[in-house]
This record gives sequence, structure tokens and C-alpha cells, in this order.
Amino acid sequence: MKKNIYFGLLLILGFIAFVSLPSCKTSLEVREKSGSVLWSENCSRCHYSPDPEDYNDAQWEVIVLHMRVRSSLTEEEAEKITKFLQDSN
Ligand code: HEC
Repeated sequence: MKKNIYFGLLLILGFIAFVSLPSCKTSLEVREKSGSVLWSENCSRCHYSPDPEDYNDAQWEVIVLHMRVRSSLTEEEAEKITKFLQDSN
């Protein structure tokens, strides 16, 4: 009888490991994404992808801060996008 409980616990632990593995992989992929990829994936969801040349460095700083809230970007992603936009204008 006790053996069954242990087996059940093992099964649950195995399932949790199986479910959490793919999510770890996704966050790694996000970390490896460049600013330009993040920009093209996130900044064209609601409107046309803005041209980096449309605004100067200081304006991009403010715009990405504003759009970060809308796009639910992490700080790291927002920083990468800002850097990409500032390097390309
Ligand atoms: C969830 C939807 C959404 C996402 C995602 C989004 N935006 Fe926007 N964006 C808006 C809306 C709505 C406006 C217009 C109203 C405003 O300025 O708040 C706008 C306006 C803008 C403007 C024009 C500002 C102006 O003063 O004319 C720029 C530039 C811009 N977004 C850049 C970006 C960038 C860069 C990203 C990616 C980091 C992004 N947006 C992601 C919704 C979004």
C-alpha cells in the first residue's frame, strides 16, 4: 500500500519536471533574443513597427518606457529594444 503512495509521488514529481522543462527553455530563448528580434516581434503587435529613425535617443528612451507597460516586456527586453533603436537611428 505504501509503495503505491511513493510511486504516485514519484509520478507527480516527474510530471512537474516534465512540465517545467519547456518553460525553462523558453525563458532561455527570450534571453538570447537580440534587440532587433524583440523589436520586430513586440512592437508591431498593436501598430506598424516604428522606424528607428523616426525618433532620437532621448525620445526612444521615453517611448520604450511607455510601450513597455503596454507590451508587458521585462526590463532586460526593454533595454535591448531601446539599445537597438538608439543604435539604428
Ligand atoms: C499593446 C499594444 C502596443 C504594443 C505592444 C506597443 N505599442 Fe506602441 N502604441 C500603442 C498605442 C495604443 C499607441 C498610441 C497611444 C499612445 O501613445 O499611448 C502607441 C504609440 C506608439 C508610438 C507613437 C508615439 C507618438 O507620440 O506618436 C511609438 C513610436 C510606439 N508606440 C512605439 C512602440 C514600440 C517601440 C513598441 C515595442 C517596445 C510598442 N510601441 C509596442 C500600443 C502598443
